[in-house]
Amino acid sequence: MRVGIATGLVVVGDLLGEGTAREQAVIGETPNLAARLQGLAEPNTVVIADNTRRMLGSLFDYRDLGTLPIAGIDYPVHVWRVLGASLVGSRFEALRVASTPLIGREEEVALLTRRWERAKAGDGSVVLIVGEPGIGKSRIAQTMLEQLGNEPHTRLRFFCSPHHQHSALYPSIAQLEQAAGFRREDTAETRLDKLVTVLALASKELSEAVPLLADLLSIPTGDRYPPLNLTPQKRKEKTLHVQVAQVEGLAARQPLLMLWEDIHWSDPTTLESLDLLIDRAATLRVLMILTFRPEFTPP
Ligand SMILES: Nc1ncnc2c1ncn2[C@@H]1O[C@H](COP(=O)(O)OP(=O)(O)OP(=O)(O)O)[C@@H](O)[C@H]1O
Ligand SMILES: [Mg+2]
Repeated sequence: MRVGIATGLVVVGDLLGEGTAREQAVIGETPNLAARLQGLAEPNTVVIADNTRRMLGSLFDYRDLGTLPIAGIDYPVHVWRVLGASLVGSRFEALRVASTPLIGREEEVALLTRRWERAKAGDGSVVLIVGEPGIGKSRIAQTMLEQLGNEPHTRLRFFCSPHHQHSALYPSIAQLEQAAGFRREDTAETRLDKLVTVLALASKELSEAVPLLADLLSIPTGDRYPPLNLTPQKRKEKTLHVQVAQVEGLAARQPLLMLWEDIHWSDPTTLESLDLLIDRAATLRVLMILTFRPEFTPP
């Protein structure tokens, strides 16, 4: 399969053809460009033009294929191959074009800051930010994070995604991959080393954490760790337990700020994990900020 994607205006005209072959006439530069881009794509790749690239921001990684003349289009077109989803988990950041000045929201940001002061003293908090799409939930959280500046703390950010609502613990997997600094070309061995390094920031006792979280991240451990031999239920319980232990370990070292974005898209296992973390948060140096849209009712 080859895919070309173009973004722009199209004119949809009358229905053409008969029976199942009926299709709408789509006129304009965009369908032509899409067809030409498809022609440029190698098998099993996706090719896009510059304007689509701008709309997608850094949601994906791209390879620059240069500026090419395209038949039927009277200007050269900058063309990109899409390599795959990027490790930038934050929709807010990936799509941010330019930062507009913040309007209002002083109270919301001040509330978060007060909760953070208390969290630093060991009185942990969970703050829920709920509202319609685009109302500014992420912007409030972002503003509070920016205001922390160089103050010593650990920051963990988790992003739920509408495309991963059925993959267990997807936000935690993406967070770990990001924190460990995985790269597309890393071997299993390198990934395992990076995972160990990031987990060691929370705890010295990793004999259980590494094999469980390596399994979660689909990293083969070879003969470096004994096989897990656990039932799926037991494996899940232990993985959730190890996650809580990681949070405890991090919060014992430095105040910990956890941002959980868009939990209306979380998978059921992530919700279980959040339950456990929220139970523990009250007595840790932790502030958890959770954002979601009103369609979600927190248990
Ligand atoms: N108070 C504000 N002042 C200036 N710009 C704002 C403000 N609130 C939101 N925006 C801008 O509006 C856009 C949408 O905001 P944001 O992404 O924070 O919404 P959201 O509630 O997180 O939406 P979603 O449910 O889609 O995640 C962003 O570009 C953001 O910078
Ligand atoms: Mg948001």
